[in-house]
Formats: sequence, C-alpha cells, structure tokens
Amino acid sequence: MVSAAAQLTAGNLVAFPTETVYGLGADACNSQAVARIYEVKGRPADHPLIIHIASIDRMGDWASDIPEYAIKLAREYWPGPMTLVLRRSELAADFITGGQDTVGLRVPDHVVALALLEAFEKTGGRGIAAPSANRFGHVSPTTAAAVIEELGEYLGTEDVVLDGGACAVGVESTIIDCTKELPRVLRPGAISVDMIEDATGLQVVSTQASKPNSDDSLSTLSTEEIRVSGSLENHYAPAAKVFLCEAPTPGQGFIAHADIETPKGVIRLASPRNDEEFAQILYSALREADAQGLAEVVVSQPIGIGIAVAIRDRLARAANGR
Ligand code: TXA
Ligand code: MG
Repeated sequence: MVSAAAQLTAGNLVAFPTETVYGLGADACNSQAVARIYEVKGRPADHPLIIHIASIDRMGDWASDIPEYAIKLAREYWPGPMTLVLRRSELAADFITGGQDTVGLRVPDHVVALALLEAFEKTGGRGIAAPSANRFGHVSPTTAAAVIEELGEYLGTEDVVLDGGACAVGVESTIIDCTKELPRVLRPGAISVDMIEDATGLQVVSTQASKPNSDDSLSTLSTEEIRVSGSLENHYAPAAKVFLCEAPTPGQGFIAHADIETPKGVIRLASPRNDEEFAQILYSALREADAQGLAEVVVSQPIGIGIAVAIRDRLARAANGR
C-alpha cells in the first residue's frame, strides 16, 4: 500500500477497489495527474471528480460552509456509499470541480481504499480524486479484472491496479447535493432517501431518478450538454443492447431475480436472490453479456425502494430509452 501511495505522490494513477465500484485515482492536488484521469477515461474535462478522503476530519480541508445536516450524514454513513456535494474550499481547484464552486467528497468503506488513503495522507497527500475506473460511457468495473479490461491499454507502466476482490455494493455512491437548505439526491445509490431523512430529520427534495443521461453527466451540466451525452449510442452501457420491458426470446441474455424462470433458449446471465445481490452482480452480468458476444440482454427490473431505485436508474441509462 505504501508503494501504491508513493505512485500517487509521484503523479501516477492508482486504480483501487471501493465498496461501490473501482475508482481510478490520482493525487487531487496534482493537476497533471488529474489530467491523466480524463485522458485514460476519455472523459470530457469539464466533468467534476469526487475526492476520496480517509475520514470525516478531512472534510473541512476541501469544503466550506458545511451545513449541519451534511455533518449528520457524514457521521452516520461514512465510511460508506455516499458522496456529499458541498461548497468548495480553495484547495478544491477548477481541475477537480470542472470550474464549479462545489466539490464532491466521499469516505469509501473498503479496507484497501482506506489503507491507500491513510498511507497517502501519512506522506502529505490531501485526498484522492477518483471517478469510476471505466472508459467514458461504459459500465463501471466491480472487479480488478474488469478495470484492466477497460483501461489496461491506456495505463502506463508506473500506474497501479490494486485488487480488492468484487465490490460489495456494486452500484455507484448516492450523490447528495448539500449546498441548499434541504438535501437533494443527484444520483441514487445504496444510501436511500429514507436513510437520508432518518439521519437528518429533513425532507429530501425529490429529483427525477432516471434521466436518460450518463452517470458521467449529472445535473451539473446544462440541458444542452445532457442532451448531447444522452444521445450517444451505448452511453453508460455494455456493447449489447439492453431491454427492460419485454419477455426474453431465444438467443437473448437474461438477468432477473432467482424466482423468475429462464425461458427455453434464453441465456441466463445472473439470478440474484434479493435487491442487494442484484446491485452487486449487475455490472459483471452486463460485462458477461459482452464477453459472450450477445447482441441483446433483457433485464427484469427489481421493483420497490431502497437500492432498487439505484438499479432502475442505472438500467434506464444503460437501456437508453428502450
Ligand atoms: O461510488 C462512486 O461514487 C464511485 C467510486 C469510485 O467512488 N465514483 C464515481 O465517480 O462514480 P464518477 O466520476 O464516475 O461519477 C461521479 C459523478 C459524476 O457524474 C460527476 O459529474 C458527479 O459525480 N459529481 C462530481 N462532483 C460533483 C459536484 N461537485 N457537483 C455535482 N456532481 C458532481
Ligand atoms: Mg462513472
């Protein structure tokens, strides 16, 4: 871990596991290292990055005017699958925030990520900027092998990929805008609206949960930019076409809860037993569809609230309106 932290200090990239998905990390104070993240991902440079920190104590380094409810959320759910968007401090430069006056912060709940963050902080590091470790518009990786498959050819010999096994949550963190009087969910995840309301005693401002744009282009962008990203073929999606509202036919891939049977000739890719397991295996099952060269995948979406909201949000984007 010390050597991976040293690579960050030297300006190289370190892909690391978190409880949600794998991240592609760089020293959040090094503009050249952060520029390489965008290059390796093929991501437009004005999209802001989440800064990963080792503990709640570092919040004040990167953010200012932190509202009481954001502190309550951080105390309750960090380390955990939650990103708080706060007013930025001077430390959060334009190359992190895409020129906005806010910054996204998160303490990940994974032993490898925390060990890396702690080793990096011990040598003077302030935080690790990390998007999901996939090419722009693709499915996020939930294993080290998937990171290498996505980014291997774009990484240099000094860059590092840490292997921490399969991610436990499987979908990206809940992003909560904490810059207004009331919290607002910008991206649903494992920390649900109910959990936010429980911790803060406030009512969460509702947002449309499944705009057909990519996870890489949240509400921070203008309507016009969202339209551009959302109109790209296969945005935030596997190469296979994803369908949500139909019965699978022979030759198609199929992802559904275990109690739903597989019709004859259909290729079953995953049979999760509950919504948590659904989130955990979703991205690897979509990758498996591509590995098997399937042209089409039908997903029977989980109903209900909690993490099912996040699953439906990602599937709506992957299906791109189908
Ligand atoms: O679970 C996660 O959040 C993973 C792991 C690696 O931590 N990270 C992740 O990062 O999903 P990324 O960059 O793939 O998605 C983060 C999203 C982007 O859509 C970005 O636009 C948005 O968060 N974001 C980052 N900073 C923001 C800010 N200051 N205001 C609004 N949105 C922000
Ligand atoms: Mg992403």
